[in-house]
Amino acid sequence: MAHKSDLIASDIDAYLKAQEDKSLLRFITCGSVDDGKSTLIGRLLYESKLIFEDQLSALEADSRKMGTQGDKIDFALLVDGLASEREQGITIDVAYRFFSTDKRKFIVADTPGHEQYTRNMATGASSADLAIILIDARKGILTQTRRHSFIVSTLGIKNVVLAVNKMDLVHYSQQVFSDIEIAYRAFARELGGIEHITAIPMSALEGDNIVERSERMDWYNGPVLMEHLETVAVRDDSQAKPFRMPVQWVNRPNLDFRGFSGFITSGKIAPGDRIKVLPSAKESTVARIVTMDGDLSQAASGQSVTLTLKDEIDVSRGDTICSAGNPAEVANQFETTLLWMADEPMFPGRPYVMKIGTSTVNATITRPKYRINVNTLGHEAANDLDLNEVGVCNISTDRPIAFDPYSENHDTGAFILIDKITNGTVGMGTIHFALRRSSNVHWQALEVDRSARAAIKGQRPVVLWFTGLSGSGKSTIANIVDKKLIAVGAHTMMLDGDNVRHGLNKDLGFTDADRVENIRRVAEVAKLMTDAGLITLVSFISPFRAERRLARDLMADDEFLTIFVDTPLAVAEQRDAKGLYKKARAGQIKNFTGIDSPYEPPENPEIRIDTTTTSASEAADEILRELTRRGIVST
Ligand code: ADX
Repeated sequence: MAHKSDLIASDIDAYLKAQEDKSLLRFITCGSVDDGKSTLIGRLLYESKLIFEDQLSALEADSRKMGTQGDKIDFALLVDGLASEREQGITIDVAYRFFSTDKRKFIVADTPGHEQYTRNMATGASSADLAIILIDARKGILTQTRRHSFIVSTLGIKNVVLAVNKMDLVHYSQQVFSDIEIAYRAFARELGGIEHITAIPMSALEGDNIVERSERMDWYNGPVLMEHLETVAVRDDSQAKPFRMPVQWVNRPNLDFRGFSGFITSGKIAPGDRIKVLPSAKESTVARIVTMDGDLSQAASGQSVTLTLKDEIDVSRGDTICSAGNPAEVANQFETTLLWMADEPMFPGRPYVMKIGTSTVNATITRPKYRINVNTLGHEAANDLDLNEVGVCNISTDRPIAFDPYSENHDTGAFILIDKITNGTVGMGTIHFALRRSSNVHWQALEVDRSARAAIKGQRPVVLWFTGLSGSGKSTIANIVDKKLIAVGAHTMMLDGDNVRHGLNKDLGFTDADRVENIRRVAEVAKLMTDAGLITLVSFISPFRAERRLARDLMADDEFLTIFVDTPLAVAEQRDAKGLYKKARAGQIKNFTGIDSPYEPPENPEIRIDTTTTSASEAADEILRELTRRGIVST
């Protein structure tokens, strides 16, 4: 076994020369804790000729995208690609191990640690041709087995090896093996999508049926694992698909040369071919295919190239260059299957960052349709998704994006979701189809614009967003500010949590999901009020950073002030003006903020009021002074 750093370039070159003719199989091993996954991989590597082993972090874990040129593994490229993703602070751990035998070369995506997260497994699976699903023969099929199989089928992996491991611990019993095989085949049939299942009884520890045929299981006539991996037919039909190249960057070394670089995810291209750039739908013709080693007369999926076009059209990073005759679709609302991979649940209405291809957009889950119970495959009503849960959800993006249904193209039909505050990957999904309703709802251009509405009132609109615990004094202070503003002739509007919950939001309670929706709606209302030219006072607990951020992002930079009414829990509880804390402590109110529901204090509020040292009217004066200083009112 060698590490990359031990090898010099000529070793790698010599190795690659020898490997060129061999086909490549990418696979993933999926198992629960202690199923023997590392023992199995260790055995495979030990028995073969390993070129090098390296621990790598990957975001999309796509060795196909980052690591291969044609069918030749470009190690330098792979390592560079992953290093740059690592710099962006991405934390998915997938170790890609490369090995080869006389018959074939292999890349196995090994997903170590964090067994409770399907995140790593799904990441590794996204570029695999085959999945080994490991079963502990003593335990049989577990929820985790079903979950992994579900992900494998959702990601379109057609070949599964059901590796029934630890046969030595069940006395190499044929009965145990066949019971597991029958149960798994029944489950997979119901699941759909998996076309070939090869069940192999083995002991990774003892080496039974891994490379050598086991004498202790003479009842088994099928292939041993290595033999199967070496011979299983996998077809790569990506070249036969329509041309797609998500643009990674625009090259402009001089005025005469404008090239668009990217990795061809499917199809072929040649100079003279008509292309269409999405989402803009501008068309042109390919002039040249430029690479480091000179111009090409043709390029195909798996290659990184730079295209120049005959016409000067606008192309930017994140666009997708498609064949003009068979372009991708463009939409901003989709039905998707979503796998949630974060501890913090998915909430409809909360904005996430969506990455699809090379483009990055803001996305919100508009409607979770149902959750899929991975054990029964039944559909269950759902308002949110917890860690490792899978659901079918409608998603909307803030800009139209190019995509293909996942069933047609895995590269242009899959996406990941990223948390805006932590930057962590929280979900991954596949697009079923676009929701047409989006294209039938147009934005109506208004004849009177927002500045005209504000001008007639002689003021600049602004949102004063009061946040803090229940009973912190938000509404009391906001009321005084409101009166003072009216007194100087300002046009204002007050949105108060208790009041809005009597009307617009009377369908919402106090679960996290309902609070997210409560704030989303009130932020949209505040936006309308701002468009009307009003100074809008919003007084809601608004406990979550993500939704306060959503509200802020809806307004212009200078149109939003966060006012943190900072009252310690003990003080608010002691005042207990509405008697709610007492009830909450007595268990009569559930999910009470500060007691059994979280409050995330603002990190950089424009104004912070410490109510233990400042009276409500002093606080109001301070806010008025700040509004004057900012030129919002003149007193
Ligand atoms: S928020 O968390 O969704 O922003 P909001 O400001 O609308 O809350 O409503 C909070 C008000 O509802 C509190 O001031 C209190 O009067 C009342 N209330 C009733 N139940 C709860 C609860 N479980 N947690 C917090 N406030 C509650």
